Amino acid sequence: MASSMEASFFLVFLLTFCSSIYSIFSATTTDLITTNQSIIDGETIVSSDGTFELGFFSPSGSSNRYIGIWYKQILRYVQTVVWVANREKPLTNTSSVQLKVNAPGILALLNEKNESIWSTNTSRSVQNPVAVLLDSGNLVVKDANDNNPEDFLWQSFHFPTDTHLPDMKLGKNFKTGHELYLSAWKNDNDPAPGKFTRIIDPTGYPQDLTKSGTNVLYRIGPWNGLRWSGAPIPLLTQSRLYTFQFIFNKDELYFIFSLINNSSVLSRIVLSSNGDTQRFMWVDQTKRWNIHFKLPTDTCDAYSLCGVYGSCDIYSEPICGCLMKFVPKYPQQWEKGDWTEGCVQRTPLDCNKEHVFLRYSGIKLPDTKHSKYNKTMTLEECRQVCSGNCSCTAYSSLDISNGDKGCLLWYEELIDIRKLPERGQDIFIKMDPSEQESEAGSTRKKAKILAVSFSLLMATILLILILLWYKRKKKKLKLSEDIELPLFPFSTITRATNNFSFNNKIGEGGFGPVYKGLLEEGQEIAIKRLSRTSMQGIDEYKNEVIYIAKLQHRNLVRLLGCCIQGEEKMLIYEYMPNKSLDSYIFDKTKRKLLDWPKLFDIINGIARGILYLHQDSRLRIIHRDLKASNILLDTDMNPKISDFGIARSVAGNDIGAKTRNVVGTHGYMSPEYAIDGIFSVKSDVFSFGVLVLEIVSGKRNRGFVHQDHNLNLLGHAWKLYKEDRSLGLADEHLADSCNNSQVLRSIHVGLLCVQKHPDDRPSMFSVVQMLTNENPLPKAKEPGFFTERNLFDEAKSGSQTNSSKNECTITLLDPR
Ligand SMILES: *[C@@H]1O[C@H](CO)[C@@H](O)[C@H](O)[C@H]1NC(C)=O
Ligand SMILES: *[C@@H]1O[C@H](CO)[C@@H](O)[C@H](O)[C@H]1NC(C)=O
Ligand SMILES: *[C@@H]1O[C@H](CO)[C@@H](O)[C@H](O)[C@H]1NC(C)=O
Ligand SMILES: *[C@@H]1O[C@H](CO)[C@@H](O)[C@H](O)[C@H]1NC(C)=O
Ligand SMILES: *[C@@H]1O[C@H](CO)[C@@H](O)[C@H](O)[C@H]1NC(C)=O
Ligand SMILES: *[C@@H]1O[C@H](CO)[C@@H](O)[C@H](O)[C@H]1NC(C)=O
Ligand SMILES: *[C@@H]1O[C@H](CO)[C@@H](O)[C@H](O)[C@H]1NC(C)=O
Ligand SMILES: *[C@@H]1O[C@H](CO)[C@@H](O)[C@H](O)[C@H]1NC(C)=O
Repeated sequence: MASSMEASFFLVFLLTFCSSIYSIFSATTTDLITTNQSIIDGETIVSSDGTFELGFFSPSGSSNRYIGIWYKQILRYVQTVVWVANREKPLTNTSSVQLKVNAPGILALLNEKNESIWSTNTSRSVQNPVAVLLDSGNLVVKDANDNNPEDFLWQSFHFPTDTHLPDMKLGKNFKTGHELYLSAWKNDNDPAPGKFTRIIDPTGYPQDLTKSGTNVLYRIGPWNGLRWSGAPIPLLTQSRLYTFQFIFNKDELYFIFSLINNSSVLSRIVLSSNGDTQRFMWVDQTKRWNIHFKLPTDTCDAYSLCGVYGSCDIYSEPICGCLMKFVPKYPQQWEKGDWTEGCVQRTPLDCNKEHVFLRYSGIKLPDTKHSKYNKTMTLEECRQVCSGNCSCTAYSSLDISNGDKGCLLWYEELIDIRKLPERGQDIFIKMDPSEQESEAGSTRKKAKILAVSFSLLMATILLILILLWYKRKKKKLKLSEDIELPLFPFSTITRATNNFSFNNKIGEGGFGPVYKGLLEEGQEIAIKRLSRTSMQGIDEYKNEVIYIAKLQHRNLVRLLGCCIQGEEKMLIYEYMPNKSLDSYIFDKTKRKLLDWPKLFDIINGIARGILYLHQDSRLRIIHRDLKASNILLDTDMNPKISDFGIARSVAGNDIGAKTRNVVGTHGYMSPEYAIDGIFSVKSDVFSFGVLVLEIVSGKRNRGFVHQDHNLNLLGHAWKLYKEDRSLGLADEHLADSCNNSQVLRSIHVGLLCVQKHPDDRPSMFSVVQMLTNENPLPKAKEPGFFTERNLFDEAKSGSQTNSSKNECTITLLDPR
């Protein structure tokens, strides 16, 4: 009896379970809402290919309910809402609300009182209206049997919110007057329209503007046939992932981007609630949205920063200057950095008498709000029109996609110009004839100088080539065969770095420049390019490949692969957006971004990284150049040890070795290493100790000065420690966030690590223990190298002159 009850209970359970599974399945198969079938909170419809989903949602930090569209595929990682229906009228009570389609063809959202709080509108009516979520993410109301886009009654793509999706138009329909523009959310928890909008403004010649209310915030400029005149690099390359289209005729004006392969990537452009525009690409490996580009790119994108006839150059200081042959209108104001009044022509122009046009190259075209254009004129006809009307100030070509085509004319002072050396355009500005004379004169003189310096240059190059050839014969790169490292094609790297453009350069590493790159999938990478001429570089390259390729630890920077193209050798790493530790801890303002818990995390992370090198990795590795600038920080400020250019592996149980070539960095080198060339795991421990004291104090060991004594940082820390005032070493800003016992412990461990005798110093294993446990610590003995003089005299005796800056790696030869 009992068992049959149980059995029937189980059966019922199974049935309900199955039917609920069934209802889940049946719910996901529909992509439409019919007049018979409304959806309520909790139900969704899904586009037929499963990419997009429509339903009710609440933004993070809000309990309000909205109808929205998001990516279904990645919902389990993040809910990315791309469109919101009732952005201004949230639902607060979700019982018995519904989204339904009504008879003539209206999609309406009804609240708990059966009132319509949001609806679509239409000028027509159809027999059998349905609302369908298309694969593109477009929600359309149409007749069930009519798939012609021209006949859609309503579509969400005509009412964008903050997201520009592939195949969605932004611009204006001149026949209906309807404008399609992005409008940012008020903030992350409120999808109501905020103050920022991004529009394709049809006034004058159309251009892409981002506005705050009615003020222009930044302007990417007019379309030049290839791109927006001031577009950042990733926008300009017609990438293999997407294409752009700009349509401008008497009926409509729009900008559209399309994916070349819809199924391979997710991409969207968003106007964020702070006014930034960002293109995101979904990266499947990391399950994260990567930012492909961001606008404004830099300060120079701020609208009209340098005033009329001013030109913004991000690589000059100050960034605002006047265009050539222009001078500040009010020099005194200008000097003080008030650029609002802009510049005037050096020689005032009397247009009616005589004038010439001077070419200015490599610029973003000025504001086209007060411009006129003609798509068929040639550049010469354009010049004549501008010449014949004294209100005309400048002209340029309209379309540079295929030589010069069309004509763009300005009738006002020119404003919002910036220098874009590699991708800017030409503009011809009306000037007094005397300016051309001076131009011609100086070019002649320049040509002469050029000729002389050219021959000198050739001779020098020849000499260098001979030297190089000679050196090459002596030394050739051989990489051991047993290293398996992904090989990146050279073309991938040139594309990722925009052909090693200056804008992509992020620094100068041990053996050559370092570039930032962006793979087409959206992953950011750092590329170390070995300078072709550096012989020492080849050794370091080889060294780095051998060691780092075999190492895997979360506190070591990851080598993704390498690239070899003829003479070019490159290493490809994961990109560390927060640069190196020294850029934070030694910087008065940036230092404040790291509170004590974060600093303590960093200290522990570095310790674990070194422990791995010394003990846990298959090779026993001595880094030999641990210093703040070799510790990189990832997005979450996790430390990663980098630069294995001079690292050494020691065999089996050996813990050290001796070298005649002492390489390392002043201020971080242990005495026995700097003086006798003896390196061991304990010399790394010494460097770590210095690093800890630097992190806590915010001061560099080398170059440390104190009014009361001439000790270096180690000496200072030691003095305070002996006087039982160790906390005095900690940087002031730690006072707020401080855990005093942790700070004291860190300083104590730091001092133990920098003790004079290597045998006194703890191993990295003990260091990690000491930092995390509460056990009492041994008393610290005198540190090595604790007076600056001391360090200097001893180290200088063998120093080569190839380094004077305190932060570069130097080479010392053994004095004996
Ligand atoms: C809606 O229901 C009516 C009657 O039940 C039926 O005739 C009609 O085909 C249904 N419409 C849709 C779109 O399913
Ligand atoms: C929500 O609406 C339902 C139906 O109108 C009502 O019974 C309920 O009290 C409302 N809840 C709140 C919290 O207002
Ligand atoms: C909601 O209002 C419509 C008419 O506007 C009516 O036909 C329908 O029955 C109402 N529904 C409820 C649940 O009151
Ligand atoms: C639909 O509503 C919008 C906003 O209320 C309005 O601008 C537009 O003219 C309407 N369209 C039609 C066809 O009624
Ligand atoms: C991509 O999707 C859009 C909209 O769904 C469609 O118009 C286009 O033809 C698709 N492109 C390809 C290459 O499949
Ligand atoms: C589109 O992308 C998918 C998934 O990455 C791939 O399988 C397919 O071959 C691609 N199609 C084309 C035409 O490139
Ligand atoms: C453009 O210029 C051509 C040649 O000068 C002229 O025939 C044409 O009417 C102009 N178009 C407009 C729209 O002004
Ligand atoms: C010069 O151009 C302006 C702007 O197009 C126009 O208003 C003005 O009439 C023109 N002047 C002459 C003399 O053509």
